[in-house]
Amino acid sequence: MRLENLTLINFKNYKKQSFKFSPQVNCIVGENGSGKTNLLDSIHYLTLTKSAFNAIDSQNIRYDQDFFTIKGKFEKNNHHHQLQCTLKRGEKKILKHNQKVYEKLKDHIGAFPMVLIAPHDVDIIREGSELRRKFFDGIISQVDQSYLNILITYYHNLKQRNSLLRQFQERNYFDPDLVEPYDHQLLDLGQKLFHTRRQFIDDYKPLFTKYYHYMSGLKENTDLVYFSDFSQPEFPQTFIGSINKDLALLRTNLGSHKDDYHFTIEGHSLKKFASQGQQKSYLIALKLAQYDYMKKSINQNPLLLLDDIFAKLDDIRMERMIDMILKGSFGQIFITDARPHQISEILNKFKVDVNYFHLKK
Ligand SMILES: Nc1ncnc2c1ncn2[C@@H]1O[C@H](COP(=O)(O)OP(=O)(O)OP(=O)(O)O)[C@@H](O)[C@H]1O
Ligand SMILES: [Mg+2]
Repeated sequence: MRLENLTLINFKNYKKQSFKFSPQVNCIVGENGSGKTNLLDSIHYLTLTKSAFNAIDSQNIRYDQDFFTIKGKFEKNNHHHQLQCTLKRGEKKILKHNQKVYEKLKDHIGAFPMVLIAPHDVDIIREGSELRRKFFDGIISQVDQSYLNILITYYHNLKQRNSLLRQFQERNYFDPDLVEPYDHQLLDLGQKLFHTRRQFIDDYKPLFTKYYHYMSGLKENTDLVYFSDFSQPEFPQTFIGSINKDLALLRTNLGSHKDDYHFTIEGHSLKKFASQGQQKSYLIALKLAQYDYMKKSINQNPLLLLDDIFAKLDDIRMERMIDMILKGSFGQIFITDARPHQISEILNKFKVDVNYFHLKK
């Protein structure tokens, strides 16, 4: 799959601009604040229906304008696909595929797969478990619509159960018959999420390890372990038995929404002990493994978007990383960098065709 051309109207700092991309390497350079990240974000928006950087939709509209439009022409399975997304202030966003409006945006997720690596992604390592769940859920959801549906239903039930807990407190009573259907749903759906997540990690871990070993020159051992309440056979009883704690804290304390993934290097926590370069390498390996996993599952090359990814990597790791990407079986690639000379010098060593875009403020 590839993106052939893109037009941005009033998206963030873009007034109106069109781009025609190379099927191989596209390198976007320009000074700080020139719109490199925004360009990648518009591709993220068009393929995943939201910004990777700003969750408040209306803030992606250019200042003082009332709408944005992103248009892109894709090639997939030898067919052309025209995607267009428009957001007007105060209205619902509209996404069209070949002129046809999507009724549900979630039907679009995964249809035009992509992997983005951006500086803030190290938060997956450094922050709390929610970002790790989101990261892995995002991968599975892009290749498995039924997983996404189960996930949405699980969180819907969780929200309802939590508001019921608050209602009990406000009205000073408790009725177990009202909680029971939610308990049943959360346990049933949670079990399904658990099986899919566990199987996913089994398949994904060797891909991850391959990339980390390559980047570190086989010098460092890493691990990635999935933790879930559901791994305990007696968990359904424990869950039901924790109702008093739930009532006291006014939220559901156990379940799939508490799952976590532990990242380690040489047996120690990556978050607490690893250097910034090691964390960055781990992140890149996580993302390239995501690429491989998605590619295998959907038999299609996702787009690979690399935003400012070389910071904190030493020269050897930086070259290994580019070597891996350019010689590996990745499809169309978009790279941004604020130092045109540095990036072109590195890319020139690899004798690939690179299309450069010099952005001006
Ligand atoms: N809604 C908006 N309307 C207008 N301009 C915006 C909007 N949102 C962000 N910008 C502008 O976009 C610019 C940032 O663009 P972007 O993050 O793409 O820069 P960059 O080229 O990636 O820079 P860096 O090299 O620092 O990463 C900033 O100048 C910011 O003010
Ligand atoms: Mg940027």
